Amino acid sequence: MAGRFITFEGIDGAGKSTHHAWMVEFLRAKGHAVVSTREPGGTPLGEKLRGLLLSEAMDLETEAMLMFAARREHIVQIISPALAAGKWVVSDRFTDASFAYQGGGRGLARSKLQQLEAWVQGTGTGALQPDLTFLFDLDVAIAAKRLQGMGQVADRFEQEKTDFFERVRQAYLDRAKDFPERFRVIDAGSSVDSIHVLLEKIITSVC
Ligand code: TYD
Repeated sequence: MAGRFITFEGIDGAGKSTHHAWMVEFLRAKGHAVVSTREPGGTPLGEKLRGLLLSEAMDLETEAMLMFAARREHIVQIISPALAAGKWVVSDRFTDASFAYQGGGRGLARSKLQQLEAWVQGTGTGALQPDLTFLFDLDVAIAAKRLQGMGQVADRFEQEKTDFFERVRQAYLDRAKDFPERFRVIDAGSSVDSIHVLLEKIITSVC
């Protein structure tokens, strides 16, 4: 039996990593074999690329291509083999992040991202796409406050200004509208407990 591919998305500070970790534990407790992973990253090479992507200034198209290069490695080494073995792959970010950050945030043409997506994930019925995507949606000012409260050094994306994150947020919401069958938009301003109740309800009904 093929596994399930679930992705977690949202602007920086929306809390998606907390909910991602919770989901991994929830599914494991239910007895599923779960691969917990993230992007950019998820493989030794991908984690090296992540280090560069989060710290080095670079041309926008270089940035997009490196995101997809790391993704290709992630798919070939981790995601596809796990799904073929019937495991659940739960990833903290995937391609929707490229459409939101490089597309919405930085303004890269959607057609270029679509070409990279088709190259890296395939096309038609054989294309790799998540079965379910949770989008944690939050007011940009609140997300920025949460990030500050975490007291970590801001990476290259987290240093961006409010209007960048407004565009990222909007691009995510546009993606959710374009792919309503796989997206579930979660109000990330709700309490952590109420979000987990909702996530449990969704995951049990959809998968
Ligand atoms: P993030 O999940 O926020 O890591 P952390 O929680 O450890 O800070 O991901 C790192 C950054 O990478 C985030 O700011 C969004 C960015 N990103 C892109 O710009 N495009 C992509 O395709 C992906 C996967 C991530």
